[in-house]
Amino acid sequence: MILLYLCLSVFLVQSCTTNDPSDIKTYKDYKWYEINGNRDGIKKLLRFLTGTYEIPYYSLVGGTGNLLVAPELVPAVDAIASFEGLTTKIVIDDYSEILEDEKVNPLRQDGFSWTAYYDVDSIYGYLQNMSQQNPNWSQLVVAGQSYEGRQILGLRINTPTAVDKPVMFIESGIHAREWITPATTTYFINQLMTSQDPEIASLRDSFDWHIFPTVNPDGYHYSYTRDRMWRKTRSRSRNGCYGADPNRNWDYNWMDYGASSNPCNYQTYGGSNPFSEVETRSLSAYISGLENMLGYVAFHADAQMLLLPYSDSTEHTANYDDLKQIGETSLKYGYAVNKAKYDGPGTAAELLYKASGGSMDWVRHARGTPLVYTYELRGRYFHWPAARISEQGDEVTQMMLGLATEARNLGYY
Ligand SMILES: *[C@@H]1O[C@H](CO)[C@@H](O)[C@H](O)[C@H]1NC(C)=O
Ligand SMILES: *[C@@H]1O[C@H](CO)[C@@H](O)[C@H](O)[C@H]1NC(C)=O
Ligand SMILES: [Zn+2]
Repeated sequence: MILLYLCLSVFLVQSCTTNDPSDIKTYKDYKWYEINGNRDGIKKLLRFLTGTYEIPYYSLVGGTGNLLVAPELVPAVDAIASFEGLTTKIVIDDYSEILEDEKVNPLRQDGFSWTAYYDVDSIYGYLQNMSQQNPNWSQLVVAGQSYEGRQILGLRINTPTAVDKPVMFIESGIHAREWITPATTTYFINQLMTSQDPEIASLRDSFDWHIFPTVNPDGYHYSYTRDRMWRKTRSRSRNGCYGADPNRNWDYNWMDYGASSNPCNYQTYGGSNPFSEVETRSLSAYISGLENMLGYVAFHADAQMLLLPYSDSTEHTANYDDLKQIGETSLKYGYAVNKAKYDGPGTAAELLYKASGGSMDWVRHARGTPLVYTYELRGRYFHWPAARISEQGDEVTQMMLGLATEARNLGYY
């Protein structure tokens, strides 16, 4: 067995410098594998492949592994799988085909819409336009600058009311390739600001909203222009590899679970230190400056789940039962829109896998924020058709309404 792994690493060596910023990755003929069998065997396979090659996507949830690999790695995957007695299935033979309708999109409109995916500049342009159209109760807010000098731009929506309102914070797009999250977040902003539905208007008026559609703007731009599967930031490590996972980089139990110490790891490199990434450092400073934060909601894709703290421990928070009840109502509201069933609510550690250094755990621990949630939106193979963004946008809007409604029932505000 050692021999097999050794041979593979000798004959198919590749350096970590393959994410050369001048390349555009097309994912032509990349294979999406589903792998089943002995969990330890799958773990071994993933550990070896991700430690040796550039693997743009991999996961192990429950007893199923998923893996996206370059065509030249097919013999290696098959050899290891067969050695470990695993069954493999190529569910997508050419991943580039999956991505096609995202870019060449007849539904795209000038300015902004929710029938296409847009780059950071357009998203920011939209935020700017909305704040200009409603200057009395909305304003642009900046939670720092990215490594490449982009703003981490958000919109604050705070309609004038007699009483001080609790803050509701929305973090979106921390993982660059989860494109549906900025798209649904701007959709939600649009609902809050323009909906004629009295319930949505009341939702808007109930909170001092701080909404950040793309908190990893460098990563998103890179994913948009160069490498669809990019997930991390774009800082440069000493060894020449790029980026850290901004959801493994927060200063709480940093690197304990589910994070890689290898800067070339495509997915979960935790960074050189807690808050080594300027994006997480400045966002956390912004959050620390918010008084009276009742809720923190993070959007991810695409496990279709509602996750509660903690990500790195199965320990239940003091108000776990409330979080669960509020989360259940939230999912019920969402389900009513499209009959799409989410898993959970439950702790991320129990439902997904243990991972340390995420924003949700830090917010809950460092800030003691009562209502902290991570929504894993829907999708398949990291893809969601642009023409159907509004479907999830409506779902998310109702999920937020359900969350707020049940939180009020339980006396949280
Ligand atoms: C912002 O508003 C201007 C002026 O109405 C418009 O030309 C532009 O397309 C809008 N941009 C976005 C991103 O909505
Ligand atoms: C904004 O507030 C100002 C001053 O209170 C008021 O004169 C103006 O009509 C308001 N504008 C809008 C669009 O509500
Ligand atoms: Zn994510």
